[in-house]
Amino acid sequence: MSPPASRAHWSTRLAFILAAAGSAVGLGNIWKFPYITGMNGGGAFVAVYLVCIAAVGLPIFIAELYIGQKAQANVVRAFEATHRPGSPWRFVGWMGLLSAILILSFYSVVGGWVLDFVYRSLTNQFAGHSDEEIKGVLGTLFSSPGRQLFWHALFMGGTVAIVLQGLKEGLERWNRILMPALFVLLLLLLGRALFLPGIGKALTFLFVPDASRLTAAGVLEAVGHSFFTLSLGMGAIITYGSYLGSREALTRTALSVAALDTLIALTAGTVIFSVVFTYGLDAGSGPTLMFQTLPMLFARLPGGYLVSLAFFLLVTFAALTSAISLLEVMVTYWVEQHGKPRKQTALVLGALVYGMGILSALSTNLLAHVKLLGHTFFDLADKTTSSLTLPLGGALISIFFGWVLGPQAAEEVVGPRFKWAARPLMWTARVLAPLAVAVVLVRGLREW
Ligand code: PFF
Repeated sequence: MSPPASRAHWSTRLAFILAAAGSAVGLGNIWKFPYITGMNGGGAFVAVYLVCIAAVGLPIFIAELYIGQKAQANVVRAFEATHRPGSPWRFVGWMGLLSAILILSFYSVVGGWVLDFVYRSLTNQFAGHSDEEIKGVLGTLFSSPGRQLFWHALFMGGTVAIVLQGLKEGLERWNRILMPALFVLLLLLLGRALFLPGIGKALTFLFVPDASRLTAAGVLEAVGHSFFTLSLGMGAIITYGSYLGSREALTRTALSVAALDTLIALTAGTVIFSVVFTYGLDAGSGPTLMFQTLPMLFARLPGGYLVSLAFFLLVTFAALTSAISLLEVMVTYWVEQHGKPRKQTALVLGALVYGMGILSALSTNLLAHVKLLGHTFFDLADKTTSSLTLPLGGALISIFFGWVLGPQAAEEVVGPRFKWAARPLMWTARVLAPLAVAVVLVRGLREW
């Protein structure tokens, strides 16, 4: 094991917050949250999701930041550095690496779909077309292996290109401009959605829980998604935390990122479902939901061409800032543990992930009939991470923080001003979070 070279650090606290928010806010918020909410019947699912973010996600976010910053090391060594050399907890880090590879492999494919929609927007393929034609656009992409692989390559190439430049050069600067831009555009779309006739139904669907529509598998999906959307349970936040110099205000940072992430997901959900209920679409249509609803709205907006282009570009960027955090987990590990140069590592790992992603890209065409455990490769990569390795990793990180690092870590992390919060935080990490995950995993996996 070679010792870490002197580590880079975020240049300001704001740069770090934006990068962490960049990792959290991504396809999970704008694409995945609305469609899994639709498939799981709406309000009750959203309620479980919100409780999970507050009661489970937030404490684990704080724990990951603390572990990363204290250790100043990659996801595997972080557990050794904060515990002891050779600690068995390092296996949680290994599992995190596996999750990162799996997630990025299908994430990049969906990133590719978004790029295809950037292209469609640019070439004005929504305005003036019938709803049926617009709904068919994604189908055309799905049935074309070459097209899927092309966009997947472009997305993965972009991710690698940013990561190989290191922490500060591209990332910090772009995050600062584009993340707020995405938020503003979403708010503008929300402004439009509020005047659609379907808005009332959309808000009822999202915010009035109907417990009868919730299944155990749905609860597991909500728990899993709270990890996915906050980038938890696999070391992205540990890795980003390891580039933090001083220990100020970890708790506040975690709170702001979680709040922003949740707000963006709920806003995207409101916009998408108001379109769904206005045009009589199927709320439970699955992963195609965002790609079929929003272009219908864009096609009817004055200036819809520009709005559509801006929207898909910003979603591309949100996806990229998340994808780089996934690749960064692996690259940081490889560079530190094996002493390899960053550029070469990013290229090799990027190629590896691209290769795995091919299986997901072909899951809607050539390999659509190949099922493992009843799922296509795409669904399997998504489900094993969201419903298994992320919650499991998160629960173990929580136990590590609560029991191994213990009261001292909890006190350090909340700081002297909020000393009273140390015990509740520690007990949440020790018992509440792991127990919630364990119950849900056992019940949900049976229905899986
Ligand atoms: N949080 C990202 C999203 O919601 O799109 C996905 C993600 C990024 C998951 C980074 C895990 C991760 F480490």
